[in-house]
Amino acid sequence: MAAKGNNLRSLIFEVDDDGKASLSVLDQLLLPHETKFVPIENVEGAWDAIRSMRIRGAPLIAIVAVLGLAVDLTSNGTTIRDLAGLANSFSATREYIYDKMAYLTTSRPTAVNLSNAMVELRDIVEKMSPEAPVTREIVGAIVDHGRHMLARDVSDNVAIGRHGADDLLSRHDRPDGVRLVTICNTGSLATAGWGTALGVARELHRRGRLESIACLETRPYNQGSRLTAYEIREEGMNGTLICDSMAAFYMRRRGADACVVGADRVCANGDTANKVGTYALAIIAREMGVEFFVASPFTTLDVDLSCGDDIEIEERPPGEMLESACAPKDMPCWNPGFDVTPAEYITGIITERGVLKKSSDGTFDVIGFVREHS
Ligand code: MRU
Repeated sequence: MAAKGNNLRSLIFEVDDDGKASLSVLDQLLLPHETKFVPIENVEGAWDAIRSMRIRGAPLIAIVAVLGLAVDLTSNGTTIRDLAGLANSFSATREYIYDKMAYLTTSRPTAVNLSNAMVELRDIVEKMSPEAPVTREIVGAIVDHGRHMLARDVSDNVAIGRHGADDLLSRHDRPDGVRLVTICNTGSLATAGWGTALGVARELHRRGRLESIACLETRPYNQGSRLTAYEIREEGMNGTLICDSMAAFYMRRRGADACVVGADRVCANGDTANKVGTYALAIIAREMGVEFFVASPFTTLDVDLSCGDDIEIEERPPGEMLESACAPKDMPCWNPGFDVTPAEYITGIITERGVLKKSSDGTFDVIGFVREHS
């Protein structure tokens, strides 16, 4: 059974005294009705858990990929040389690991966290001395990096929550606190813990300053109704579930101070890919005069991409959409998993190192912000 609230766990990662790693992930396809952890035995298992969306959310995808690699490389007590049939060669070992990393990045394309994690890992391996005892050193470094990612993600999310709550309360401290709207799931289930956009809500709630939070159902995968609603209930926040089509009328009738959403990739100009439906929510927020914030750790920034036009948007199988719709089974469907919200609709980007706001010319300087805070 998953623990309550902030202790809600998306995975369990352990390393025994012999250095063998093990990983189990909470099967999110079964939530909210069943809480079941399933073991990940190797890289193929990690790829499948990511692809099938048993685990999802940009930070968690990257973390499970790295931990899955760590498990794969330490499995059955064998050495990587045994597994690959490799000679005691540093470069052969490295190439073997790079092949596995390349395979993992094919699992889901839109969230940049996964490829950013693989670049980080590659840098670590590249810096290792070719004289090092091949297997133990490289595998140990990958295990250590997986642990580092877990700890860093939680502390980044807590900092995002703090910065977001401070910023919102500086303008919206109504008698009962702040009224939020969110989409998809960006909480403990999408991360190593606490969450990004939902982490902001969590921090406001912790301070007794969250008046309400509305979560959009988030068709067709229903991450809002299955997962965010579950986290809201576990945490005891004052939450309301609405269908995606109700957002405008909800804001009109019940009022909202800010939308806070997550991100799968934030470009250099602030254009942001996130769960499909985010763009529509941003347009509605603009129309209603409601602020629109993206909560994104640095690991979700893609400063190499100048704008959102070139983001690869994952298209999921039409069957996934038809399964949850009442429609003729042979109806042609278009099922993009994400959309891109142009920077002009975004009020600010909440990161672990502060809130990036627009310059006087109305644009975001993500590259300058990263440089200043690195
Ligand atoms: O398809 P999903 O469920 O992986 O999409 C998740 C989202 O779009 C989240 O908003 C995003 O990954 C940020 S999670 C902190």
